[in-house]
Amino acid sequence: PRIGVVVVAAGSGTRLAAGAPKAFVGIDGSSILHHALAGVFAAPPAQVVIVAPEGREGDALSEALATAGDRRDLVSVVVGGETRQASVAAGLDALWADVEIVLVHDAARALTPPEVFERVIAAIHAGAAGAIPVLPVIDTIKRVVADEIVAVVDRAELAAAQTPQGFRRHVLDEAYASARAEFTDDAALVAEAGHAVAAVPGNPLAFKITTAADLDRARHLLAAPAP
Ligand code: C5P
Repeated sequence: PRIGVVVVAAGSGTRLAAGAPKAFVGIDGSSILHHALAGVFAAPPAQVVIVAPEGREGDALSEALATAGDRRDLVSVVVGGETRQASVAAGLDALWADVEIVLVHDAARALTPPEVFERVIAAIHAGAAGAIPVLPVIDTIKRVVADEIVAVVDRAELAAAQTPQGFRRHVLDEAYASARAEFTDDAALVAEAGHAVAAVPGNPLAFKITTAADLDRARHLLAAPAP
């Protein structure tokens, strides 16, 4: 079955405060978007739709064409929306008719290794309607209201969600068509629509670059690659 990857890169980067939309902020000599796309193009072949901030479509396309190698014909760029969910919806609208499996990936998870894509795709091939990479939660988590701890939360039941998140195309399309609220990831939307979503092992390198400290971490990782 044909695969499509929607790379959402339309965020403003307010929390990063680096003076440019986040996807265009440099890590080393190259941008967050470049590194994210290098991972996407090293994963199994797929249509790649990049969702860019308004006015930066041309920059996103140049970045993609420079990174795509022999996959240039698979690339397109659309403009994103006010929220991540609106940006994903714009990307879904640009998928080819024959795409049957969709992966939605945060450009901000710039160092995600191709093996994470492979695990998510394998879970869908094995029959899951949806599959997402997760990591165990390291911190002890509290439910807090105002300044009071109100509940014990069992850490063993929790996991941190990463991307790429993969779904059968019709499942994701229908979940977006019926969505009545804003969610922070696609798995939540699909679960709300009544579908089971499988968990596969994530990778610490798939962390989301959100703050200046995250950007520093990415810089260090690229400067001193693992042996
Ligand atoms: O804001 P957050 O960190 O959840 O963003 C995750 C991803 O969604 C980022 O890659 C960001 O570029 C993208 N995004 C988007 N459109 C928005 C907001 C976020 O494409 N309006």
